[in-house]
Amino acid sequence: MSSRFVASVVLGYGCLFALPMVSRAAEGAPAATLEAPAAKPATLTPAERGWQRLRSDAYAPAEFKVELFDRLWEFWPAALKEQAAKASPEERRKMAFSRYGLVADPDDPQAAPLSVVDDGQGGWVMNCLACHQGKVEGQPIPGVGNSHFAFQTLTTDVAKARQALEGQRAGGMSGFVPLGLSNGTTNAQVFSVVLTAMRDKDLNLVKQPKFPRFKNHDLDAPPFWNVKHKKNLYIDGFVPKTHRVIMQFALVPGNTAESFKEREDAFREILAWIESLEAPKYPGKIETALADVGRVAYERVCADCHGTPGIAESYPERTIAIDEIGTDRTRLDGMPAEHRRFYRDSWFGEYGKLEVTEEPEGYVAPPLDGVWASAPYFHNGSVPTLWHVLHPDARPAAWLRSENGYDHERMGLEVQEFAAMPSEVKDLEQKRSYFNTAIAGKSAAGHNFPNELSEDERQAVLEYLKTF
Ligand code: HEC
Ligand code: HEC
Repeated sequence: MSSRFVASVVLGYGCLFALPMVSRAAEGAPAATLEAPAAKPATLTPAERGWQRLRSDAYAPAEFKVELFDRLWEFWPAALKEQAAKASPEERRKMAFSRYGLVADPDDPQAAPLSVVDDGQGGWVMNCLACHQGKVEGQPIPGVGNSHFAFQTLTTDVAKARQALEGQRAGGMSGFVPLGLSNGTTNAQVFSVVLTAMRDKDLNLVKQPKFPRFKNHDLDAPPFWNVKHKKNLYIDGFVPKTHRVIMQFALVPGNTAESFKEREDAFREILAWIESLEAPKYPGKIETALADVGRVAYERVCADCHGTPGIAESYPERTIAIDEIGTDRTRLDGMPAEHRRFYRDSWFGEYGKLEVTEEPEGYVAPPLDGVWASAPYFHNGSVPTLWHVLHPDARPAAWLRSENGYDHERMGLEVQEFAAMPSEVKDLEQKRSYFNTAIAGKSAAGHNFPNELSEDERQAVLEYLKTF
């Protein structure tokens, strides 16, 4: 792919679903918009302010107007469009949230969903919560990844509507750098590779960016409540946890280096909010006697890598070599060493001060706090339930989830399972509602450690995991 081509594609990305960060001050709008909401009581903690910022700071030009969003149904597939035509505007909005995996604000289901920020001028701006605020059994839980987010479908529909209604040519990254080949997962790290490649180490845009070789791969956003246990971030733990590092997804081309760096304090607060989150408690019944049996087996087979939830000090943050873990390796191979070095040597890595790992050996065993809620499992979201994590040989080759069903027996997504991707599903958009492990980067293999457990022990460990 030529550099110029990627650059134009990425600019499309920036405009089409601009992540937070374009400074309004830089655009000539009043600098006041850079401040958190006006009446900010001094009594708010940094974490509370961080949450407020995530919900209300619109740092970018709107991705689209609400008006356009409410007309997207006109471009839906025939059957759905027909249904939408008969629905009330309220029902139609609900249908749109459901189609795109946007999470309604529980306090005001008709308002901007949690996935976007309302810019106060009829525009919606996507932000961190698009990927990082999901729901379980239909209920939003703070910090759970958004396993519904249909990024590609939303972007494609917006492009179609723009073209038809506003005469704008469809553009954007879609099709060249895929945004996500299965709903609920996104090609997030590749966005970052591409965006950072367009900057020098002080984050100024460079004229002729050189894009390193990378592999597209979709990832499942991990739950935020485990971030406080970690010293390093991301599945390969390649970079130490700092507020700067988590700004990467906001590095859209519309930002100047200055306007980006001005947000540092905001991101200190956002990190404080992330680190203030507690794992949600499992709301169902737990058989304590069985869970106690499970604890013994867990301590024998699992705790060395994952630690014991509730005993924070016990979390060892161990990196397991890729051949030993055996889960999909595209994420590891797909992120270029140049990208990791850029982190180390640039503003992000405090110009070489942070210990960035250039060649990680594998993946870090994550803490398992609140693991009942964070389905699907593994970094690529390939395994729908904890039962399937515990039964490596019984994992489905393809699966289709229900929208809000939770499987309390197997602990995780309520799914239909398939021995192969159903061949009658031809439409690209429909394909994205399935998880097809045959696609590159989506393997559900590996992590065979549970095979050291007897079948009874697996049932007991499953019960014990409910207490996490
Ligand atoms: C397009 C989806 C998407 C957006 C938008 C996004 N993230 Fe993420 N985020 C991810 C994915 C996927 C991962 C896992 C990446 C990995 O492990 O390589 C991640 C990882 C993280 C982590 C590390 C978690 C851990 O346990 O290691 C933090 C913290 C984080 N994101 C914060 C943010 C913030 C803050 C923003 C807004 C500026 C943001 N993210 C925007 C998808 C997204
Ligand atoms: C040798 C270290 C090791 C052992 C032993 C181990 N795990 Fe893991 N586990 C990992 C790593 C590494 C990952 C991340 C794999 C990935 O995402 O590709 C993981 C991922 C998981 C996940 C998915 C977490 C998520 O949020 O996606 C669960 C659940 C899990 N392990 C449970 C267990 C249980 C239960 C046991 C014991 C039967 C166990 N593990 C034993 C290293 C280990």
